[in-house]
Amino acid sequence: METEWISIRDADAPADDELMRAAEILRGGGLVAFPTETVYGLGADALDASAAKRIYAAKGRPSDNPLIVHISCMEELAPLVKDIPQAAGKLAAAFWPGPLTMVFPKADIVPTATSGGLDTVAVRMPSSPVANRLIALAKVPVAAPSANISGRPSPTTAGHVREDLDGRIDMIIDGGPVGIGVESTIVDVTGEKPVLLRPGAITMEMLTEILGEVYTDPAVTGPVGADVHPRAPGMKYRHYAPRADLTIFEGDAGRVADEIERRTAAAEAEGRCVGVICTDETRDLYSAGNVRSIGSRADEETIARNLFALLREFDDMGADLIFSESFDRERIGAAIMNRLTKAAGYNIVQV
Ligand code: TXA
Ligand code: MG
Repeated sequence: METEWISIRDADAPADDELMRAAEILRGGGLVAFPTETVYGLGADALDASAAKRIYAAKGRPSDNPLIVHISCMEELAPLVKDIPQAAGKLAAAFWPGPLTMVFPKADIVPTATSGGLDTVAVRMPSSPVANRLIALAKVPVAAPSANISGRPSPTTAGHVREDLDGRIDMIIDGGPVGIGVESTIVDVTGEKPVLLRPGAITMEMLTEILGEVYTDPAVTGPVGADVHPRAPGMKYRHYAPRADLTIFEGDAGRVADEIERRTAAAEAEGRCVGVICTDETRDLYSAGNVRSIGSRADEETIARNLFALLREFDDMGADLIFSESFDRERIGAAIMNRLTKAAGYNIVQV
């Protein structure tokens, strides 16, 4: 299949005529990749089971991993869900449109192909003007996982989408690089207490300010073993994975740098290609390996924004090993460390 490419002139105020063809493809059951404020999504009509199945085929995604349904305004929520719990109303008022997904009891019109066989449905209202307007023009709710091949780092540019999905989908909309860079926060509001299933830019601190206590699913912070069954099925797969072996080093910044330098030099002496993830603050401590600053610790948002692109860059250079500094687990740091520790298969060294 030939994948069409459309570049949006002004992603903050996209013209309807630029998005109309994409909206028609969605209405016709086709697949369109589009920018959101978090990562690029691969969209299809969420109410069309065969369109949803095409998403799984294009991504190589396991069919028990449910899709997030994207809406453009509050009126589009009620038909998709059996009930809007009070906590959901409060979170929607505070954070929609924006990088928050909520899990609701599913209405019957949502096919099980979209919900991965669950009787719940995850819904999000993106704030990206391109995403929001595209959904409104399509006049259907849009199921959209991240637009990467399953298991690869999520795409933060249209170029990343092309690397993974060119020839497998109908259209790619280029709206420039995304602003946030990690996927939306997911909160399950179906139970008595709200539960955080995936950390994102709407932080735990922001959620508790609105709701009081919020539980954290154990799969957010630790490996999924025999006794941990994540409530977001996607969290059980080895996600966000670079091809290289990634190790995270935790401890005093100077000691971390020394240990990474030592291991990098040893690996390079054996002819291996090594990527090093440091920060603006520590860049000068490193000389060995392919050293990249992921951003500034004083501006954690830059770290979130650069994470997936950096993992892809190391893939492209053929890195065998990646050594990374560790980050705070507060605020958006919870999302950064959730993605990074998963990518590392929880391989963390204390120094
Ligand atoms: O920021 C985002 O949410 C991006 C953009 C495109 O909107 N989308 C995204 O989709 O990250 P995806 O498919 O890569 O991740 C969806 C996650 C998976 O971990 C999945 O298991 C979980 O959401 N999920 C979806 N429906 C669910 C449900 N009914 N209950 C629990 N978890 C659900
Ligand atoms: Mg994904």
